[in-house]
Amino acid sequence: MSSTIFIVDDEKNIRRTVRMVLEGEGFTVEEASSGEEALARLPEVAADVLLLDVQLPGISGLDTLERIAKLKSESQPTIIMISGHATLADAVRATKAGAYDLIEKPLDRERLMVALRNALERRAMAREVEGLRAMAEERSEMVGQSAAMLALKAQIAKVAPTRTRVLITGESGTGKELIAKAIHRQSALAAKPYVKVNCAAIPKELIESELFGHERGAFTGATARKRGLFEMADGGTIFLDEIGDMNLSAQAKVLRVLQSGEFSRVGGEQVLKVEVRVVAATNRDLQAAAAAGEFREDLYFRLNVVPLRAPPLRDRADDIPILAAAFIELACRENGMKVKTISAEALAVLAAYSWPGNVRELRNEIERLVILSEESIGVGDLREEIVAEVARRRRDAEAAPAELPRVELPAEARALPLREFRDHMEREYIRIKLDENGWNISRTAALLGIERTNLHKKMRALGLSRDNQGSAP
Ligand SMILES: Nc1ncnc2c1ncn2[C@@H]1O[C@H](COP(=O)(O)OP(=O)(O)OP(=O)(O)O)[C@@H](O)[C@H]1O
Ligand SMILES: [Mg+2]
Repeated sequence: MSSTIFIVDDEKNIRRTVRMVLEGEGFTVEEASSGEEALARLPEVAADVLLLDVQLPGISGLDTLERIAKLKSESQPTIIMISGHATLADAVRATKAGAYDLIEKPLDRERLMVALRNALERRAMAREVEGLRAMAEERSEMVGQSAAMLALKAQIAKVAPTRTRVLITGESGTGKELIAKAIHRQSALAAKPYVKVNCAAIPKELIESELFGHERGAFTGATARKRGLFEMADGGTIFLDEIGDMNLSAQAKVLRVLQSGEFSRVGGEQVLKVEVRVVAATNRDLQAAAAAGEFREDLYFRLNVVPLRAPPLRDRADDIPILAAAFIELACRENGMKVKTISAEALAVLAAYSWPGNVRELRNEIERLVILSEESIGVGDLREEIVAEVARRRRDAEAAPAELPRVELPAEARALPLREFRDHMEREYIRIKLDENGWNISRTAALLGIERTNLHKKMRALGLSRDNQGSAP
């Protein structure tokens, strides 16, 4: 597709020359003779680059530029000003308003082409960056509609706008980092720095200097003064990830910052002060660590103002289908493939698997499937151990009756005709299984060895729902 250049000049000759030159170079050219006309036609022309004369009758070129800059539409053209006798003040004003370049008249063909190519190149790059940014944003979107996830999102929405400290706990891969980011993004500090520290990844000897910085000569190798992560996060949020792995001496310093906002750089005397919101996460049981003397109890209490728990994936199996769909789409797009599909049976197996590595494991499995499978992902494509575990569970569910003890039936039950007795028993059995699984349909169905839709049908027929838990009619 050829790029569109929009030339706005009141001199007909100039428009004609520019059109000739640019059409010769393969561009599409549109023209307007005033700022008013340019503004009116801007949406329809959808120009990539606007060549805008500074001196125009009616509203001037610079005013036109400023108005366009305020439009904030995605289809903003990149603007190059052209001028007969621009003053320095004009040039400054144009640059401030976001003009990309300014070319002197009479227009030199080479100069014009260079300016245009640069503008188009920068435009393409900006688009790419925007695309990457959108993708990164999407990668950190929290997917999930299960009761557990909705409750978590509601909690995040409540704590985010406050400045309160949050301690996020949960197994590995449950999305603790996403929660921390969501808190920052939904807070009043969203435009301020967000600094993430992986306390487990920084060597013990370096953590203090990473967190608080150091003065020149504080230790061998400290050849210059260095700012620490707390300083960099000033005014914003610091996310202390894997805080359970921080050593006791660093913990003491962190405690001091939490108490007073004060700290000193390693090897420094000067007391610095910061205002930082602290969000921490760990997959360890900090209370137990505190009891064992591995984690400062006072720090634990300071951090744990609002506890948030990221639920393990097996407790929200209802989310597995939408998570899988979201990851399939993302992986296909990132790899420039057409979006693949997944069979209902494969999805049922994914939903019944226990996911010890939680969402991260699911995501990795999906990425592998997207790369290796054909158009549609089937059960045969799934990782061996996933299929084996689910098959084992289904077998166990089927095999169980063999070892059942004999049941004593109450007289009321024995008095029922077979059909009513059977309905009653089935209802009781399903209700108990649903209760055991927090009324999670996917998981219960998988454990019963039936399809989800089938379970729904049965529940309807037996009058079972979460609110009406099927007391016998
Ligand atoms: N609700 C969710 N929606 C979409 N993606 C998710 C969700 N939860 C987790 N993920 C993805 O799963 C992966 C692991 O998430 P994250 O790194 O936040 O987990 P974690 O709890 O911090 O794990 P660890 O304790 O191992 O550090 C990431 O790729 C993340 O994008
Ligand atoms: Mg993490």
